[in-house]
Amino acid sequence: MSGRPKILHVVGARPNFMKIAPVMQAVARAGFADQKLVHTGQHYDIAMSDVFFTDLGMPVPDIHLGVGSGSHAEQTAKVLVGFERVCLDERPDLVVVAGDVNSTLACSLDCAKLRIPCAHVEAGLRSFDMEMPEEVNRIVTDRLCEILLTPSPDADENLRQEGTDPARIFRVGNVMIDTLLAHLPKARAAGPQARMGVEPGRYGVLTLHRPSNVDDPKVFGGLVEALGEIQRHLPMVFPVHPRTRRRMEDFGLGPRVAALAGLRLCEPLGYLEFLGLTADAKLVLTDSGGLQEETTALGIPCLTIRENTERPVTVSEGTNTLVGVDPRRIVEEAMRALSGPGKAGRVPALWDGGASERIAEVLRTWKRVRSAPVT
Ligand code: UD1
Repeated sequence: MSGRPKILHVVGARPNFMKIAPVMQAVARAGFADQKLVHTGQHYDIAMSDVFFTDLGMPVPDIHLGVGSGSHAEQTAKVLVGFERVCLDERPDLVVVAGDVNSTLACSLDCAKLRIPCAHVEAGLRSFDMEMPEEVNRIVTDRLCEILLTPSPDADENLRQEGTDPARIFRVGNVMIDTLLAHLPKARAAGPQARMGVEPGRYGVLTLHRPSNVDDPKVFGGLVEALGEIQRHLPMVFPVHPRTRRRMEDFGLGPRVAALAGLRLCEPLGYLEFLGLTADAKLVLTDSGGLQEETTALGIPCLTIRENTERPVTVSEGTNTLVGVDPRRIVEEAMRALSGPGKAGRVPALWDGGASERIAEVLRTWKRVRSAPVT
């Protein structure tokens, strides 16, 4: 026993890894706590999980819950039961969760019931679209967590509007950008451009995985139609998420996609390869949350294939444009971006590589106002 506080960090799905990695490193540097890493196993493929640990230099998880895929209820419930056991065995003084995936929600709920303080990295984001499972996860997680670590002023404002005690809100900036800046030189060397047959600055990158885009054959078919047009003007690299690949097969879209000569499909890429690919792209098309932020940090024009975003600062200050799912509009906006330099932007305040240091400082100095024992 070191007598130091014990922190458990939780990761579950792909977008969690690059948020927790720098926080663990900053806490280790500050040296005030013992830390353990818990992987819920929400994502489990090598390409969706293991490669990120290697790329980001993360320690092997101390505890792995192995929950895997399932319906929202099944997945959330398995994490809920598994992580409760972990908390009872480990008796942490603090838990850190990140983002908006099902694992985030389940672990913060365990903490609230066990009266363990929980810190939420990337708190306060809102799309105001309850059709998105992530929006439900964000709202509930923020209601339950005692330490809300926000990336931008809009997030603080959302929390205040919901009646959150301002003493719980800590604006620390965007921790994903810490990871991006730290890995960019290595990532540039790892980019798969040569393997994919594309030249720096002369290709686009596409990612698609949101249920609202790929689970509906009409919407997905419309996106393939738009893509058919865009790839005639710009070769597009498309790392395909497992959900998307399955839907493509279910809906019989495979042959149509395979016939597009300018479209280069590949398996999901690791962190370094994907960042290396994005950093030299002419244009990015995506429905991802994190990629909207990464393109803003890199100054690469991004067309977001959604009707709304929980990251409005990427539109108001950054290089992001919301284009919805209408194929005509997507093609129009892509052509506009290709006919010139594309949307310019600036990097938002506190997206400066120092967010994880600020988080470590909040965690080091935070004092609970009221507490109750874990039973
Ligand atoms: C989850 C998150 C989403 C995040 C995304 C990044 C929720 C509600 N959603 O969505 O916010 O943007 O991760 O990828 O938490 N699969 C595999 N191997 C894996 C993981 C998934 O084959 O390692 C397949 C399974 O068929 C699974 C499907 O992908 O059913 C979807 O996975 P799931 O974790 O349910 O959600 P994502 O769509 O990945």
